[in-house]
Amino acid sequence: MKVLVTGGAGFIGSHTVVELLDAGHEVVVYDNLSNSCEESLKRVEELTGKQVPFVKGDILDRECLEEVFSKDSFSCCIHFAGLKAVGESVEKPWEYYHNNIAGTLILTDVMRKHGCKNIIFSSSATVYGEPAEIPITENCPKAPCTNPYGWTKSMLEQILTDMQKADPEWNVILLRYFNPIGAHKSGRIGENPNGIPNNLMPYITQVAVGKLKELGVFGNDYDTKDGTGVRDYIHVVDLAAGHVKALKKIEEKAGLCVYNLGTGHGYSVLEIVKNFEEATGVRIPYVIKPRRSGDIAVNYCDPSKAREELGWEAKNGIREMCADSWNWQKNNPNGYE
Ligand code: NAD
Ligand code: WQD
Repeated sequence: MKVLVTGGAGFIGSHTVVELLDAGHEVVVYDNLSNSCEESLKRVEELTGKQVPFVKGDILDRECLEEVFSKDSFSCCIHFAGLKAVGESVEKPWEYYHNNIAGTLILTDVMRKHGCKNIIFSSSATVYGEPAEIPITENCPKAPCTNPYGWTKSMLEQILTDMQKADPEWNVILLRYFNPIGAHKSGRIGENPNGIPNNLMPYITQVAVGKLKELGVFGNDYDTKDGTGVRDYIHVVDLAAGHVKALKKIEEKAGLCVYNLGTGHGYSVLEIVKNFEEATGVRIPYVIKPRRSGDIAVNYCDPSKAREELGWEAKNGIREMCADSWNWQKNNPNGYE
């Protein structure tokens, strides 16, 4: 299939482009590079031996999107483009709603005008808020989000659902990612956060490489096995493979589908530190800090729906996730610079 990949230069997008090309699909990447750089795509070309057509453009830029859709006929759009920093979204709610929601409205409007009514959307476990059940199935009700970023995902799910209901020609797959970490086995592409990382794994790898002194563990008094927060970490290459399976589902006329993409296993912060140390031989000094506002105690999914309906399952365990995150960071201490 010919696929437009918005946000394809970013962390999950670049890994997905590798999997798409390896599976024989054609791609065009559309990204404004606000949180990425073209170097990731050069490395994707090197890894796959294929060219990656790239358009530097914004999903808010209707004209630019019109031009892209006039030149090529796309079977589907995998829509990663969006701002994703939880804390920043609290400081800049307008920017987040504008970029993520207005951008998606413009994108889907241009898509339907050009007869492309197939979309795979990057949603997030954040739509479950404080989850009503653990493990979380797709039937778990959505709950109030704790930040504007989360609300953009929750609202966009609703918008895409309503569009599909009104016009059943649309096929909409909402993929709710849990906590993506790891990197391509080659160590050539990986996560490249700006400034001090907010997320656990890039923080740990930057401590490991000596850029940061120690990890702050946000709270050790949760009702969990060791008091620290529990999450469902998933290898980014497994997550990327989930998109290839979702494309197959689109071809089978999916209608509206929602899938959790996680492993179904929960690991605490201290278990992640231990696994990282054992997988890499690098010690991670840490201090216990107060809880981070908005955090929940436990979050992991039941991934059986994706297994049954997409034939997808995460293959990599936590050791591989840690080893691959480290392989990327130690070979690229300053990311793509
Ligand atoms: P990322 O920031 O690495 O990738 C997003 C890409 O979108 C970047 O390359 C950025 O330049 C681009 N972009 C942003 N706004 C744009 C715009 N207006 N026009 C064009 N391009 C734009 O993030 P990621 O971790 O790869 O996440 C990809 C998607 O998955 C995002 O939608 C994110 O919200 C979602 N998601 C991420 C996680 C996670 O933990 N990484 C978890 C759940 C969902
Ligand atoms: C994981 C655990 C922290 C950093 C976020 C978004 C979510 C989704 C994935 C996009 C928690 C603890 C972290 C640190 C720590 N993104 N931690 N010290 O919060 O589960 O999810 O990314 O959709 O929407 O909210 O991920 O990696 O930030 O935290 O102790 O320096 O690690 O408290 O228990 P989170 P995370």
